[in-house]
Amino acid sequence: MDLGLERTVDVQGVRVPTMLYGTAWKEDATYGLVKDALAAGFLGIDTANQRKHYHEAEAGRALAECAGDVFVQTKFTYRRGQDERLPYDPSASLSEQVRQSFASSQQHLGRRVVDAYLLHGPELDQAWSAGDAEVWRAMEALHDQGLVRLIGVSNVRPVHLRGLLSAARVRPAFVQNRCYAKQGFDRDVRELCAAEGIRYQGFSLLTANRDLWGHKALHPVARRLSVTPAQVVLRYALSIGILPLTGTTDTAHMRQDLGYPSLVLTSDEQALIGSLAG
Ligand SMILES: NC(=O)c1ccc[n+]([C@@H]2O[C@H](COP(=O)([O-])OP(=O)(O)OC[C@H]3O[C@@H](n4cnc5c(N)ncnc54)[C@H](OP(=O)(O)O)[C@@H]3O)[C@@H](O)[C@H]2O)c1
Repeated sequence: MDLGLERTVDVQGVRVPTMLYGTAWKEDATYGLVKDALAAGFLGIDTANQRKHYHEAEAGRALAECAGDVFVQTKFTYRRGQDERLPYDPSASLSEQVRQSFASSQQHLGRRVVDAYLLHGPELDQAWSAGDAEVWRAMEALHDQGLVRLIGVSNVRPVHLRGLLSAARVRPAFVQNRCYAKQGFDRDVRELCAAEGIRYQGFSLLTANRDLWGHKALHPVARRLSVTPAQVVLRYALSIGILPLTGTTDTAHMRQDLGYPSLVLTSDEQALIGSLAG
């Protein structure tokens, strides 16, 4: 399904932007960049209550000054993904950590209801653990209370997703993964998501795929559409059903990245880019 023709898509009855602005690694620039991104036309942001890589409170400060209806997605991050600036008591149970982290996100974001809430990454590499199941149940409780509209997971492999799906009472709306072109744009996980009705969000589409981004075969496509190779890569991702995140810090790139609905790749161009990706 080509997601690049529209600015929003329906996910479990919620309108979700087809491209999100990512707020990682922006530190004190977060406030200004989120304001710039919303002014440029982004309809949603991605953040996390993980001070090591995100400044959620600064994203919230920018949201407070924005008039429009912005889709807001944030995350619960395990202790091992955090530095000493924790949004919860690490000696509390995992379900209590989720409740505390979420309450802190509500304060940072100035919102009682958050549009999407993700588990930032599973506890173990090899399996969906009992800890993950406890975290998921706590996220389901937030969903039951109407405090989060959609829940999902990040940084997962099929083994995690199968474990989650076998026990979930509230089905995941999203998977958010780093998307390597060389792995068929995370084909295994995307195929499982497609089969299970889960939307796939991709990050590092440019930075993890410099070979593709810089490939000379993209140049004629970019020339035909009068865009840059970066725009072609993002548009290709949308054309195969990926919801891209971009964390650009450049306002001209923000506008370029948002230009996707007017760009349509031919089936030959899609096949060409698919063949370069592997
Ligand atoms: N769940 C997770 O564990 C996880 C991990 C990583 C990221 N994320 C999320 O995903 C978001 C995006 O991360 P990312 O890794 O995809 O992006 P990113 O690291 O922020 O990088 C985007 C890169 O692409 C460049 N770029 C963007 N648009 C461009 C354009 N039109 N032309 C040229 N260069 C362009 C940017 O450069 P300029 O700044 O110069 O434009 C930047 O170097 C993060 O902010 C975060 O919200 C989540």
